[in-house]
Amino acid sequence: MKLVLKGGRIIDPSQQLDIVGDVVVVDGRIEAAGVGLAEAADGARIIDVSGLVIAPGLVDMHVHLRDPGLEAKEDIASGTRAAAAGGYTTVCPMPNTKPVIDNAILVAGMKQKAREEGVVNVQIIGALSKGQQGKELAEIGDMMLNGAVALSDDGHYVESAYILKTGLEYARMFGGLVISHAEEESLAGDGFMHEGAVSAMLGLRGRPAVAEDIAVARDVLLAEYTGGTIHIAHVSTAGAVECIRQAKLRGVKVTAEATPHHLTLTDEAVIGFNTATKVNPPLRSTEHVEALIAGLKDGTIDAIATDHAPHAFEEKDMEFRYAPSGFSGLETALGVILNSFYHTGKFTLNEVIDRMSTTPAKILGLEAGTLKVGAPADIVVIDPEKEWTIDSNNFYTRGKCTPYEGNTLRGRAVATIVGGRVVMQGGEVKE
Ligand code: DOR
Repeated sequence: MKLVLKGGRIIDPSQQLDIVGDVVVVDGRIEAAGVGLAEAADGARIIDVSGLVIAPGLVDMHVHLRDPGLEAKEDIASGTRAAAAGGYTTVCPMPNTKPVIDNAILVAGMKQKAREEGVVNVQIIGALSKGQQGKELAEIGDMMLNGAVALSDDGHYVESAYILKTGLEYARMFGGLVISHAEEESLAGDGFMHEGAVSAMLGLRGRPAVAEDIAVARDVLLAEYTGGTIHIAHVSTAGAVECIRQAKLRGVKVTAEATPHHLTLTDEAVIGFNTATKVNPPLRSTEHVEALIAGLKDGTIDAIATDHAPHAFEEKDMEFRYAPSGFSGLETALGVILNSFYHTGKFTLNEVIDRMSTTPAKILGLEAGTLKVGAPADIVVIDPEKEWTIDSNNFYTRGKCTPYEGNTLRGRAVATIVGGRVVMQGGEVKE
């Protein structure tokens, strides 16, 4: 089976490639990328991508697919179709499901289910503690030996420093990464939005930025002390960015991600009490957003991850304080980032693809995020100029909720190829 993407701008940050040419795929792997290859490829299926960008498929290291147990919100089938629609070829679901993915049998079971029902690659993140209760470590070694790519109690802060310390030590023995949801619970727990002028005006209890600053500082210190590797999920505060920057300078093994929403929206979006703006950590004020963008630019923030957190419509259709936190992100992320950062000249296409594909793949040690010869043919074709308007009715995800509803964006994935199979073309998921 031979497929040729013909005449596109090939951008691959993993090999500093930026040329106009063809990509040849044979039996699910990259055979070649270069100039004038299409002519020689007789018998191949040829897709003309002139005027478009060919890049390594996007890798989302932080999603919630809600499978098993919470399928009214999402499942592997709907979540991976949303991923394909958004240009993602690999997604990494968090283990805050029912039951929590905290042992090897569940990891293996989910991998199997993903192979059967998913249309993109799914890499499983196991829980750090049993039931994500923060009391006792989960079966870290067993899960890692059975294919978990990282460990996390995401959705919850690991309150016990002892549990995080021993978790980092165990994970280290298996070359594992711990992903931290860093919000100090006693400060953040009862809040509904960022604590500041807007929360005071709205009369909503806040989650102060210092709750995240404290948590990140502790987590980074524990990584430094143990020699373990930590990844800070959904960074949202200026203090956290600075703490991570300093830790990296000291040589601490820390990486970090930011979400499109924290990078592009402020707490002012909450005025009007739209529950599609409720998320943990919360949307912050402008000075935090600016620090986050600067951190993404200078490499302090390594990756962009969506924290795709779908909920059923009726759950979000509630008074602000009672609605669950989170919203869908897989189908809007690339458009939001291209529109806000590429078209404003803040980031190059190479930087966008690096933060959304090559670097997250590298952090997790995945065979992804690259168009190198021999790599799996996981590819996204992007039309950076395509204008489109976000309408959650058209989403593949079950979580028909986004703070970007009705926004018109420039830039979109127009084809997604997984292991050489075209799973999305022209916005339509094929399988
Ligand atoms: O807003 C959020 N929702 N933040 C999280 O960390 C968890 C997520 C969820 O699972 O719904």
